[in-house]
Formats: sequence, C-alpha cells, structure tokens
Amino acid sequence: MGVQISPSILSADFTDLAGAVRAITPGADWVHVDVMDNHFVPNLTLGLPVVERIVEVSALPVDAHLMIEDADRWAPGYAEAGAASVTFHVEASAAPVRLARELRRLGSRAGMALKPATPVEPYAELLAELDMLLLMTVEPGFGGQAFLDVVLPKIRRARELVKDRDLRLWLQVDGGVAADTIERCADAGADVFVAGSAVYGADDAAAAVQALRESAERATESAWWHSSS
Ligand code: DX5
Ligand code: ZN
Repeated sequence: MGVQISPSILSADFTDLAGAVRAITPGADWVHVDVMDNHFVPNLTLGLPVVERIVEVSALPVDAHLMIEDADRWAPGYAEAGAASVTFHVEASAAPVRLARELRRLGSRAGMALKPATPVEPYAELLAELDMLLLMTVEPGFGGQAFLDVVLPKIRRARELVKDRDLRLWLQVDGGVAADTIERCADAGADVFVAGSAVYGADDAAAAVQALRESAERATESAWWHSSS
C-alpha cells in the first residue's frame, strides 16, 4: 500500500457532513471521523449514531479515531456500525490486545493511537496485533493546532520496528499535517496522513487532498525507509 490520505471532517461544516464526505470523494482514501467524549480529551464531537449515518452515506471507508475513555467497552460498537478502521487510544484501553482482536473479529481494521508523550517501545511486541499505529502529532482534542516536530523521531523508531519485524502495519500521523509538514512525516516513515484544516480550510478540498498526496509521494520516493521492490 502506498501513500493514503484520510481527511478529518472535524474541520468541516458539522451541519453538512454528507457534503463534507462528497467534497473529498473519490480523491481521498478514507474519511477520518474524530469521536471525542469530553473526558479523554477536553472536547465533545459526535458519537455512534452519527458515525452509523456517515458509514451509510459515505462512498469512502470510515476511519474512526476514538478519543474516548473506556475504549474496551465502546470501541467494538464502531466496528459493528461498519467503520472499516477503528482506532482506540492505548492510554484509554485496559486490554489493548484483547480489544484489537475483538475489532478484527468484528471485521474492522484495528488501529491503536499514541499521544505525543506516549513512547512506542513498550508496544513493540504488540504491533503484530494491529493493522495501523496512529502517532499523534498534536495533543488530541482539537483541529488546527501546530504540528509537533518532537514526534518525528518516534515515527522513525516506529518505522524501524515495522521494517525489522516485516509487519504489514500502516503508520498514520494526525495533527498539524499540511503542505509544510507532510513531507517530514513521510520522510520519517508515515504512510497514512490525516489532515483536517489543511483540507477543509482550503478553497478546494479535493485539490488540497491531491496536493497533499503528491507531496507525500514525492517525499516517500526518497525516504530512508522506502524500498521500490
Ligand atoms: C485532533 C484530531 C485530528 C484533527 C486534525 O485531535 O484527532 O484528526 O482533526 O486536525 P488538523 O489537521 O487541523 O490538525
Ligand atoms: Zn483524528
């Protein structure tokens, strides 16, 4: 799998989510939906009934990012609702291996997210249980924040773990990903890029998706971790 772009509708018009999805279809690979519970993060967005409707109206697969407490209890419902990928935060899960297996059993891809200060090394042996690792490049909770460069070395280390173990794991970055930061993410080792304000803040969302894809593909071509085979 090459570069994938997953626009976040957090920065779209919440009274017209169907229109927000149409604006990036078919150019994007996923639609990224940010679920926040006002406990795990200090913000409240949308929950299961809205995600169910987005799954129904979207021609793109739904990439659900759950910024919620007690992920073990609530995350499986998003897989049952038809989200093709469900990402929970490891900081909010008591049993991440069990949860990842449950998500896969329900037919979804299993993603696990790490906040900027959460190290990846303790989870090295757990990566084989996952389809995607999300490395947050801002503190989760809000769109439009500045990209945290301090996460770049962690992206490199995660990519090294993936290479060393020959895993089929996708590495997603989320937060402050835009024209001026996406190349650094791709160069470090990311291959799935979430962008909210960079897509929905642009005059032409579809053109922004295409421009981000081209930048990421260019950077990936010459990245240390990339092999053309
Ligand atoms: C933040 C969310 C992100 C957010 C990114 O907690 O997880 O998905 O929408 O927005 P930008 O791209 O504007 O940083
Ligand atoms: Zn997100």
